[in-house]
Amino acid sequence: MSLTVSSTTDPYGVAAAYWDRLHIGPGSAALVSFFAGLAPPGGHALEIGPGTGRVTLAVAGRVASVHCLEPSPAMRAVLMTKLAAEPDLRDRVTVLGAAAPDFRFGRRFDYIYLAAVYEDVPPEARRPLFAALAECLAPGGVLAMDMVTDEAVPDHPQREVRSARQGECRYTLSSAVWPLGPDLAGVRRVYRTYHRDTLVATETTKGDYHLHRPADVLADLRAAGLTAVGGSAVTDEVTPLDDKGTLIARHDS
Ligand SMILES: C[S@@+](CC[C@H](N)C(=O)[O-])C[C@H]1O[C@@H](n2cnc3c(N)ncnc32)[C@H](O)[C@@H]1O
Repeated sequence: MSLTVSSTTDPYGVAAAYWDRLHIGPGSAALVSFFAGLAPPGGHALEIGPGTGRVTLAVAGRVASVHCLEPSPAMRAVLMTKLAAEPDLRDRVTVLGAAAPDFRFGRRFDYIYLAAVYEDVPPEARRPLFAALAECLAPGGVLAMDMVTDEAVPDHPQREVRSARQGECRYTLSSAVWPLGPDLAGVRRVYRTYHRDTLVATETTKGDYHLHRPADVLADLRAAGLTAVGGSAVTDEVTPLDDKGTLIARHDS
């Protein structure tokens, strides 16, 4: 018999368990290095949307503190479990169940970053987000992001994109993406679990995939008093990263 799950109130409620095996791809190490390499040694960092913590743990190894805003209970649970096994890091990492920009810290950070978060952020939410982030970024502090790209709106039929084995199970992720507008796609993801080659569970999620264009992002950064200083979104360099379109901005005032 096969268990079928098709919706949850947490958009990442199904994906969280599979995230590290089925979503984190071969370019992940380079992406993690990109974000961790910008972390100021001994400084204070704020991460928006840490998910299961692939970047969080690397950044925490360099800084005095990392604050994380993660609204998904399922993603947060994986992150908290990883931190529980890291006694040297866990005292430095504060994990809050909240979404940006609806949270105020009353303090400033040297480094703020968002890794692979933009797909969840509608373009019209970017300006208030940057305004809130600029408010808590220290003068000279750095804001880093990815997924700022002029790529075409993705469009592909359902197909298997990744598969992983664990114990006697094989897990697969297939996805379909279809255009809904100039900066928006719909995404359907299907997670299948096979136990000794018998399909035992099928879990489906549906959501939006937002695209963020370099010219629009640069304008919104300027409006927040932030200056772009690097990243492949402005230099057009080809990178091996999982998520294209990195962008680094500085708070000058
Ligand atoms: C695609 S996952 C990426 C997770 C992780 N950063 C990584 O690179 O593996 C996006 C994450 O951003 C979180 N997220 C989405 N919108 C957010 C917001 N407004 N504030 C904070 N986190 C958000 C989601 O809950 C999810 O965990």
